[in-house]
Amino acid sequence: MAEEAILGYLATSEEIPDSDQFASQHGFQHNDVVNVIKSLHGFRYIDAQDIKRESWVLTDEGKKYAADGSPEIQLFLAVPQEGSISKDELQKKLEPSVFKIGCSQAGKNKWVDMGKQVSRKVQHVEDKVKDLLIRIQKGEALCKDDINSLKARKLIVAQTWKGYSVKKGPNYAPTRKKVATDLTRENLQRGDWKELEFKEYNFNAKGPPAEAGHLHPLLKVKQQLKNIFLQLGFEEMPTNNFVESSFWNFDALFQPQQHPARDSHDTFFLEVPSTTRELPEEYVKLVKRVHESGGYGSRGYMYDWKKEEANKNLLRTHTTAVSTRMLYALAKQPFTPKRYFSIDRVFRNESVDRTHLAEFHQIEGLVCDKGLTLGDLIGVLNDFFSRLGMSKLRFKPAYNPYTEPSMEIFSYHEGLKKWVEIGNSGMFRPEMLLPMGFPEDVRVIAWGLSLERPTMILYGVDNIRDLFGHKVDLSLMKRNPICRLGID
Ligand code: PHE
Repeated sequence: MAEEAILGYLATSEEIPDSDQFASQHGFQHNDVVNVIKSLHGFRYIDAQDIKRESWVLTDEGKKYAADGSPEIQLFLAVPQEGSISKDELQKKLEPSVFKIGCSQAGKNKWVDMGKQVSRKVQHVEDKVKDLLIRIQKGEALCKDDINSLKARKLIVAQTWKGYSVKKGPNYAPTRKKVATDLTRENLQRGDWKELEFKEYNFNAKGPPAEAGHLHPLLKVKQQLKNIFLQLGFEEMPTNNFVESSFWNFDALFQPQQHPARDSHDTFFLEVPSTTRELPEEYVKLVKRVHESGGYGSRGYMYDWKKEEANKNLLRTHTTAVSTRMLYALAKQPFTPKRYFSIDRVFRNESVDRTHLAEFHQIEGLVCDKGLTLGDLIGVLNDFFSRLGMSKLRFKPAYNPYTEPSMEIFSYHEGLKKWVEIGNSGMFRPEMLLPMGFPEDVRVIAWGLSLERPTMILYGVDNIRDLFGHKVDLSLMKRNPICRLGID
């Protein structure tokens, strides 16, 4: 309605000088007129210029006096025409704020004599304040002095009023053409698309957020690590068997059967199926012998090795079980040097706390070649870890049943300003490699670390249960940034 009125008015008149006047003359709300002006302006049917006017509105206190009269008049009327009233009596008749303001204003105006007793000085007074306030309410303009005195008493405040003056725009038409938002099959069949005016695209409008899959931080760090291994010429080992026999997890690694790690307090054993179906019997015999009586320059452990113990199924406690299977297969071929890696899940019967879970991921790398030395291991570790952004390494002698020498790996943590343990490494023992059938001069250097530790550091997670397991907040996946290792 307001739209027709505006467009219609402009058909015969040059200008609408004031949207407010126009609204009241045509019986519209100013707000509605403003909305129509904005929309018509957007489509350039009209040109609109802002008009700003300062106007005055009553404060809450001002509104009260406009209705009830000013405090000074209320006070004056409470004083008897003849005689006087005690100040205490007068106070009881009025609201505290009205009494206080009334006393000072009526005194200033010389309407009353203020003492212990209060009496009128004049008989007739006018409530000028109330009159001025009502005039402001009506939108009348007041002189500067009156405005200033009301402002000083905080009875009015300034308000900026906004309206428009309006002229025809470049696309002016007496009625607005409906613009089409869709091109339909019917438009094409009827051919009316030729006459239709289409709504323009708003290229600044935001589209709905795209729904997409998100990778878990562990997967992102895993992918980066894979890339590093691949750049260094390592091949990935098949780690798709969480269930392993004790033989491949422990015995083939020259880990004695009475070793504490083989206790059910440390390892999850399977109830069904509780034992493995097959093991390479010829190789089993050689492993039994090396445990019992050694060979290859070793004394062995000198105990009764039991097949039943080796048959027991378990959830693998390290991915070195897979490395062992791979080395066994490699030893059967004519010798070729190899570099292998794996990143996958392992299980340990541990009590769960902020930094430990009963399952985690292990990153493992190994190099198999003739004549490798501990220096080669240190060199490979420096190369590998510097690509993760850890270039300051230290090594500490350690013990593993399957490596000799063994080294714990420490990296200097710039944030924590201290050396932190990041992994374990060593050279596989001859008692492990020679029964497999490798030539005597073949050496295998290897190292392992957890995927969780670097991921927690990179993503600033300090409780492992926030990263992995049933307590993880799924929005973690949506929020976390991409992973780029080794880039500060
Ligand atoms: N298997 C070791 C662990 O579980 C890691 C390791 C791998 C150590 C290879 C030495 C050589 O911690």
